[in-house]
Amino acid sequence: MKKYRALFVCLGNICRSPAAEGIFRKLVEDQGLSDIIKVDSAGTAGYHTGELPDSRMRQHGARRGYEFDSYSRMFVEEDFDYFDIILAMDDNNLRDIIRLAPDVESQKKVHRMVEFSQRYGHDHVPDPYYSGADGFELVLDLLEDACEGLLNAIKEDICMEKHKKKRLE
Ligand code: 4NP
Repeated sequence: MKKYRALFVCLGNICRSPAAEGIFRKLVEDQGLSDIIKVDSAGTAGYHTGELPDSRMRQHGARRGYEFDSYSRMFVEEDFDYFDIILAMDDNNLRDIIRLAPDVESQKKVHRMVEFSQRYGHDHVPDPYYSGADGFELVLDLLEDACEGLLNAIKEDICMEKHKKKRLE
C-alpha cells in the first residue's frame, strides 16, 4: 500500500515543528497507522541544525505524555519529492518553503497548519521561542487540535485513493 508522508516545518525546527511531529506521530501510532503514515519535521533556517528540541518545548510536551526527540535539520528542495503534504506553522515559513518549490505540483503540497484547526480560529501557530510558559502551552493546544484535523483529512484522502483504484480495476 502507498505510504502517506507528512512534513511539519517551522523556522528553527526546535519548537513548533518537532512538537507537531511528536504529537502527530503519537496520534498515528495510537490509531495503528504507523505503517502507512510517515512523519518528519524541518526548519527553514539552519541555526539549530543537529540539536534536540528546545528544553522548554520538551518539558511542556512531556507533561502531556509526548516525547519530542527529533534532531533539527533544514528544509531542502528534495523534500518536495519525498513528502505528500508539507505543513507550515506561519506565513513566513510558508513563503520560504514555496520559494524553493520547483513546480506548481510541489507548491500545491504546501499548507498552513491552521487550515486543519477544528476548535481554534488562529491564523498561524505563533513562535514561542521568546515567550513564557503560556506561549508553549498555546502551541501545544493549537497543534493537538490541528493534528487531529490533519489526520482525519489524510484518512479521507487515503480512502478516496483506495476507492478510485478499486473503480479502475
Ligand atoms: P521554532 O522556534 O521555529 O518553532 O523552532 C524558533 C526557534 C529558534 C529561533 C526562532 C524560532 N531562533 O531564532 O533561534
